[in-house]
Amino acid sequence: MTFGKNNYVIKTYEANGAKLTARAFLGAVYVDKPLDAEFQKMNIFVPEIYYSGGEVNGYSLRKAPVFMPTLAGGYMPAVTAEPGPSFYNPSEANALFRALERGYVAACPALRGRTRRFGKAPACIVDYKAAVRFLRRFDGDIPGDKERIITSGTSAGGALSALMGASGNSKDYAAYLDETGAADERDDIFAANCYCPITNLENADAAYEWQFSGVYGFHRMHMRLNEGGRPSFTPEDGTMTDKQALVSRDLEKLFPQYLNSLGLKDEKGASLTLDADGDGSFKRYIEGLIAVSAGAEADSNRDFVRPCWLTGGNAVNFAEYAKNVTRMKTAPAFDGLSLESPENNLFGTDELTGRHFTPYAYENSAVNGDLAGAFTVGLMNPMGYISKSACAAHWRIRHGEADRDTSIAVSAMLALKLKNHGCAVDYHLPWNIPHSGDYDLEELFAWIDGLCGGRGDD
Ligand code: DHB
Repeated sequence: MTFGKNNYVIKTYEANGAKLTARAFLGAVYVDKPLDAEFQKMNIFVPEIYYSGGEVNGYSLRKAPVFMPTLAGGYMPAVTAEPGPSFYNPSEANALFRALERGYVAACPALRGRTRRFGKAPACIVDYKAAVRFLRRFDGDIPGDKERIITSGTSAGGALSALMGASGNSKDYAAYLDETGAADERDDIFAANCYCPITNLENADAAYEWQFSGVYGFHRMHMRLNEGGRPSFTPEDGTMTDKQALVSRDLEKLFPQYLNSLGLKDEKGASLTLDADGDGSFKRYIEGLIAVSAGAEADSNRDFVRPCWLTGGNAVNFAEYAKNVTRMKTAPAFDGLSLESPENNLFGTDELTGRHFTPYAYENSAVNGDLAGAFTVGLMNPMGYISKSACAAHWRIRHGEADRDTSIAVSAMLALKLKNHGCAVDYHLPWNIPHSGDYDLEELFAWIDGLCGGRGDD
């Protein structure tokens, strides 16, 4: 394994009317035995001023935090990137650009993904870990403080960031890391930033039906590939079939048992539970999270229009909230009975395009599908690692109040389990934000500076 410390280009990047100069190490292969050479590589960027002894924001060559975002989405192969305009909004700078402006070292690994050979679970998390190990292996040559590594991602990327935070140094991944020749180094991280993590997949179906209980209409975007392979989206509205409605009622019944098995407690130490009907203190807790979101918006926006499910005192009616936010996915939301979902594909094999990963979908499979092994499924779920591995001390989790891709319960359970374990967790449901990330980079970087001693004034 090598790192070409002289193999760099000095580039001036521009975005949003600003310029910055960085030393760019492009396409560093972070494993010894790549299984997919196109994706097992990363770009590393360092503020050029550090090489002449300069400082940015109170940071310097060895002291800068290492911001390590993934662009993973949909559990697809994730490309690396360069600082520049935001992909989502070209009039703004992307996270890499903003991180460098702020004085961080930025490392953006490409990761294997589900649609390629060798890309099924747990390839994406194995690669993320391998990239961290690479930074530590070449600590002397790669600037930045490797005890201040912060991962970040959105959706599937948010799930991977959470998994990085939860599963530091776990031996469970050792065989996979060895297989692809990852460095023999630690892979625990300092902090994890997670936007709308599509995580806890084996319980996400039940959580979804608990949230959208009795909501049978759905609204989603249907993607088609045009000639030339460009995606186009058309809205698709419908009502779940009788069979899907039956599945919804089956699945929602499974949620209380799982939730209660976690033994979660609120900030005052009170147990958060659900009765067999899905009602109870955990539901009140979720309503409270949404109420806080609404309250923050009401305080800061003079034109705030109170939705019908919110009383004047900001009390939330969860069933009405769910009806209004609307269902996006039909039941089951993740483990498709015909193995049609991205997550089925994630848990496929070289021979099988997809597999089930929940007992319910396996038993009710419409295509007689196989079931992925519990160990493999567990490798993708941070919930099982929090108390068993080197867990990141600091977490920031954001799940838009208007997100319908997964239940609010999924991020809430993650945040609570982390808090109950003793981690510092900054968790919030930003008002009217759909399934998305990087919409509050200023706050994200202020959080990082608060943890890493940045002055925050440059
Ligand atoms: C993503 C979104 C989903 O709804 C899902 O099921 C998996 C991944 C994503 O945007 O990454």
